[in-house]
Amino acid sequence: MCGIFGYVGGRTDAAHIVFEGLKTLEYRGYDSWGVAAVTSGKIIVKKKTGKIGDASVADMPASSFAFGHTRWATHGGVTQENAHPHLDCTGTIALIHNGIFENYERIKQTLIKKGHRFVSETDTEVLVHLIEEYRKSMLFPKAVQKAFNEMEGLNAIIAIDIADGHLLAARNGSPLVVGFGDGENFLASDAVALTPHTKQVYFLDDDEMAIIGANGIMIFDAKTGEHVTPAVQKLVWSAQQAEKGKFPNYMLKEIHEQPGIVAEIAASGGSRAERLSSLIREAYGTYMVGCGTASYATIAGQYLFSKIAHRHVNCAIGSEFGYTLDFLTNKSVVLAISQSGETIDILESVKKAKMRGAKIAALVNVLGSSLYRLADERVMIGAGPEKAVASTKAFTGMLAHLIFVAYVLAGEPVKGKKVIAKAAVILKQLLSAGPVEDIQKLAQRLKDSEHMYVIGRGLSYPASLETAIKIKEISYIHAEGLAAGELKHGPLALVTKGTPVIAFLPNDETYGANLAGSMEMKARGAYVIGVSYKPHEVFDAYIHVGDAGEATIIPNVVVGQLLAYYLTMARGLDPDKPRNLAKSVTVR
Ligand code: AGP
Repeated sequence: MCGIFGYVGGRTDAAHIVFEGLKTLEYRGYDSWGVAAVTSGKIIVKKKTGKIGDASVADMPASSFAFGHTRWATHGGVTQENAHPHLDCTGTIALIHNGIFENYERIKQTLIKKGHRFVSETDTEVLVHLIEEYRKSMLFPKAVQKAFNEMEGLNAIIAIDIADGHLLAARNGSPLVVGFGDGENFLASDAVALTPHTKQVYFLDDDEMAIIGANGIMIFDAKTGEHVTPAVQKLVWSAQQAEKGKFPNYMLKEIHEQPGIVAEIAASGGSRAERLSSLIREAYGTYMVGCGTASYATIAGQYLFSKIAHRHVNCAIGSEFGYTLDFLTNKSVVLAISQSGETIDILESVKKAKMRGAKIAALVNVLGSSLYRLADERVMIGAGPEKAVASTKAFTGMLAHLIFVAYVLAGEPVKGKKVIAKAAVILKQLLSAGPVEDIQKLAQRLKDSEHMYVIGRGLSYPASLETAIKIKEISYIHAEGLAAGELKHGPLALVTKGTPVIAFLPNDETYGANLAGSMEMKARGAYVIGVSYKPHEVFDAYIHVGDAGEATIIPNVVVGQLLAYYLTMARGLDPDKPRNLAKSVTVR
């Protein structure tokens, strides 16, 4: 959460470079934004609440040294005062921060007694005053290091001092990536923002600090002060991949990228599936862990491994797994699934599992992310940069890989490849004009609904959960995903005349039971939307999805994505940046 971008170099439009970087990172938080540029011995700050939208920094002075921040509020409301960067009392130090400074309260009281004046309600501002206090008796880099080492919690900070000329960055928990340029250098909270400038990057590790100047970058251990030689990595994503292109927003672009991504996994995912399957084969107990949408991939994985490979694989939610892993041993495998690789609830539980000796495998989309670096075995999802807050292509990518792994475990890789390739073909049809228009019309009809149900059994259960979270998070309509068999155990009481119910009925062993669930809903007045390979009289609306065996879950969830997207558009909302959320959840 929170986007950070910094620049130091020979160009004189540093504020503009930073501002453009922030636009790329805005998916990480969009409560407010701010840029600070150093010029003629002064720090000039521009801050605003709300999304960047049509704002500009054209009114900021020429500078070759600047940094900025997009905020997802934690401490203190969404106000201009609470927006970053924050200044010290002298106006000569500026600071931006991602994370939660857990012990800020006590330090703030001490600083107030020493005469520091606070203008915001944030934990961040405490740190800039602490640095100011330490700078009275030591050099600026030492002051930053000392203050950073006193912070409890998971944080990333960048500080600048008008007299110093370097970006000083440190991380513990929240991501920071250094970008190496020619006579200029960069810093960002996500490598995707660096792609227009450089492909040479270094992902800072926990407790590392960087001193970034125009002509050099020095990395050292923030605790011991020892120098670190950075293992520079080359980024594979291009700047164009992270652009909207002809689409009106990122979510629609990412939805439409899915046939290509799924087809690519069918064509070349075999060796990646081999690597994961041999780990699982040798393990004494495999546990999959993910959060939100990725947690639904783990549930789908449980069904897939059971059905295809006859293997029991456990699944858990990242924020809960840490409380239930005392039984792990060095024979256990934990497969952590994450788009960003930065979700703190996953990272924390994975670290605990690692301490118990478990082997960690990661199915992850972002190269060099914290999860990527923590894992013993890494498999890249290969979905390219995903920028809309609602995860789409990363999720279907996760599903395609899990299907492949299950088939490899079953000794039938060719069959796995075939069903995934079939799903890619069905996706292409689904995303053509006719079906999309049908879903658009349906969205128009349903756009004023207060509640919706999404039901399915077996693999259609995680598809239902995923469809419900998509509808909730971007259209703000309350949607509940249910295992269809659970209806009679409570939720049916809320069904009244016209309640929309999306029912998944693929051509598998669940068809009859799913039909029964749809009929029970219909008998109570529900408006039943059947998503199936064949029509049925119980459906009030029908969306055709061809049969791709176990991989039918992939086009099924894309129906959910499209419906959520068009409901959102019909309600006049922004699908890319839903309220209260951020793409990468790096706080507990
Ligand atoms: C999905 O639409 C969500 N925005 C969210 O649930 C997301 O999947 C979750 O936060 C996990 O993120 P990750 O895959 O980056 O770990």
